Amino acid sequence: MENRDRLIIALDFSELNHVKRLVEQLGDRISYYKVGMELYYSVGNSVIDYLRELDKNIFLDLKLHDIPNTVANGLTALTRLGVSMLNVHATGGPTMLKAAAEAVKNEAAALAIPRPQLIAVTVLTSIHENDWAALGQERAIAEQVVRFASLAQEAGIDGVVASPQEAELIRKACGNEFLIVTPGVRPQGSALNDQSRVATPAGALNAGASHLVVGRPITAADNPRAAAENILDEMRTAYERN
Ligand code: C5P
Repeated sequence: MENRDRLIIALDFSELNHVKRLVEQLGDRISYYKVGMELYYSVGNSVIDYLRELDKNIFLDLKLHDIPNTVANGLTALTRLGVSMLNVHATGGPTMLKAAAEAVKNEAAALAIPRPQLIAVTVLTSIHENDWAALGQERAIAEQVVRFASLAQEAGIDGVVASPQEAELIRKACGNEFLIVTPGVRPQGSALNDQSRVATPAGALNAGASHLVVGRPITAADNPRAAAENILDEMRTAYERN
């Protein structure tokens, strides 16, 4: 996989005009974008149509979490959009995860389109020790993350979203093919914003990440294209993993 296929830019906007401005600025250097709840709930499929027209890959980050039948039917509908990646919460449990993986596979086969990759959110990286204890959890967060990752893998899920700090443990437990998509990436010297468990682009790749999700270091930069180039350069300094 080329570095540009591993770098996913988070489109955390609510207006299509902002999306268009950024995507035009970034041009051919960036081929993968993440559309999350804010943007999708604001502009719906117009952003999917726009990005598909430009041949961009799309990670539709809607984090489904419901009973198996509802998640399966929701994912069936989302598979029809032709995106590259979708996600669910691992806390939906093994039955939900299996139903989710099956639904995506079956719908993609029925439509004869490439199957979107399906990944699971393990423990949200915003959850810190105090939140975790308040939820009544006694196991260490990292241990639970690895357990969820393994459960997801057994259920036929392609990978997980995780912080760069957890990537190494997950890579060990789940092997080389498993996707590990890490937000919380900050190039040398850039603002942390509200992220706390961060790594540099090369650090995240070396820890085992397969994809990096980057938002504000690029979207809020004075020169987004130069910021993206810098990150791609930093990624080049990571060990070649394949
Ligand atoms: O601007 P920044 O680089 O922090 O953006 C990171 C993106 O990754 C945001 O869209 C954020 O919602 C998302 N994300 C995250 N942590 C998670 C899951 C998703 O930061 N655990």
